[in-house]
Amino acid sequence: MHQPSRPISPIGSQSTYHTFAQLSDPHLSSLRGVRAADLLNKRALGYLSWRQRRRFEHRRDILDALQRDLHGTELVQLLVTGDLTHVGLPQEFEQARAWLQQLGEPDRVAVVPGNHDASVRAPWESTFARWRQYMAGDGAAGENSLASIYPSVRVRGDIAFIGLSTACPKPPFMATGTVGAAQLARLPALLECSAAQGLFRVVYLHHCPLPGLEPWRKRLTDAPRVQAVLQAHGAELVLHGHGHRTHCHELDTVHGVAPVIAVPSASAVGNRGNDCAGYNRYRVRRSDTGWLLEVMPRLYRREGQTVVPGATQKISLRR
Ligand SMILES: [Fe+2]
Repeated sequence: MHQPSRPISPIGSQSTYHTFAQLSDPHLSSLRGVRAADLLNKRALGYLSWRQRRRFEHRRDILDALQRDLHGTELVQLLVTGDLTHVGLPQEFEQARAWLQQLGEPDRVAVVPGNHDASVRAPWESTFARWRQYMAGDGAAGENSLASIYPSVRVRGDIAFIGLSTACPKPPFMATGTVGAAQLARLPALLECSAAQGLFRVVYLHHCPLPGLEPWRKRLTDAPRVQAVLQAHGAELVLHGHGHRTHCHELDTVHGVAPVIAVPSASAVGNRGNDCAGYNRYRVRRSDTGWLLEVMPRLYRREGQTVVPGATQKISLRR
């Protein structure tokens, strides 16, 4: 278990804002030229979905526009909340690794996997091993499974970023995810330890941890248990993707209310019930009564092919 520990050089003082960002579900890889032999399983369904629909819905030029908008923003961390690929082929993992390298160094960019990334059981070395440094928590080295990496913890200034994996192969037509007993057993101590150090706890995962908000075939199967742990041990902010829609809910925890926020896909045109692409920036600083959190959406606009600011939401979290 990776216990959070303060970095040697904390970023900023008590009144300093820490800025971080979240983008999700880029589905950035291309399946052009894929071999039929690679699709003799659930991936065949994913491939058909990509051929018929997803390659028109997810566009690299939109993702590039968001990346340009991110460029130059001082971030203590950029969170990528899963579904970088379509069907989790090794060549897609390689494409995604090249993209991650464009985003930044592994200590600045943190990834949790999505259901598309774990479409079928696949050899570690040709898939997730290529993202290992981007998934690992502080001080982690040599992990060779998602089970040994997550929950991952990275501490940056006053913030503890706690990543959960929900990615595991599921039957055809299912886009569900599961955190699982092992991660749930480790999570309480990480939340408590971070709270004891006075850190702002950001929990991030691919699937929605609140039961009943996603269609049954897209749900987090153990959402009730994940929600119960978060309520019992507290968090300041919970972030996820998966639904390709923006929404914000509140979770009552033992330490006070925690916003639960979803961002749209970072590459979506915005058809078929998906929101048009965007990502969120967040700013956090201590206040007299707890924390001040600002949520600053950055929204892609098809007209002009540009990224514009959405309405900033200022949230005071009493702690
Ligand atoms: Fe997903």
